[in-house]
Amino acid sequence: MSNGDVSQGRRRFLIGATAAVGGVGVVGAAVPFLGSWNPSAKAEAAGAPVTVNVSKLEPGQQITVEWRGKPVWVIRRDEAMLENIEKLNDVVKDPQSESPQQPPYIDGIYRALKPEIAVIVGLCTHLGCVPSYRPEVAPADLGENWLGGLFCPCHGSKYDLAGRVYDAQPAPLNLEVPPYRFDDDATLTIGLDPEAA
Ligand code: FES
Repeated sequence: MSNGDVSQGRRRFLIGATAAVGGVGVVGAAVPFLGSWNPSAKAEAAGAPVTVNVSKLEPGQQITVEWRGKPVWVIRRDEAMLENIEKLNDVVKDPQSESPQQPPYIDGIYRALKPEIAVIVGLCTHLGCVPSYRPEVAPADLGENWLGGLFCPCHGSKYDLAGRVYDAQPAPLNLEVPPYRFDDDATLTIGLDPEAA
């Protein structure tokens, strides 16, 4: 794919959707919350932290918020998704994320403060396209070994549901995890470290 196509992919994010949903039947549920999830234009321009209420995020659902001009994905992972991440430890390039793509207080294979909530920058580490959220298992186009993950349409890089890149992909690194903290069980703030960090 040409660089022009890559630019198109990035532009689609910049001008386009602030929400993406993985799964039939949850689109309607996502829309009403967007108003409160989106930061003001002034806050975005300043790179201010972004607060997200995850109380109504359903298992398997993914939303996108913008932080410092980047799409940040918040995904509620269910038990099956977490088990599938573990099954991919031998398939991904850097299972423990030893290459720093996350704050120091994020560790382990789930790459999250709480395993059930993933917070990941949705920009491919190859040339910056926005990957597709593909949580389904063994879809026809991705094959029977696909256990759910993120697929970059530009040059085919595959990531699991923790943003860990598969081995031997164009993308060299796991997806970035931004700094974030939980203010309470239902509220997280992207762009601020936990109090104790
Ligand atoms: S930008 Fe090349 S694989 Fe994602």
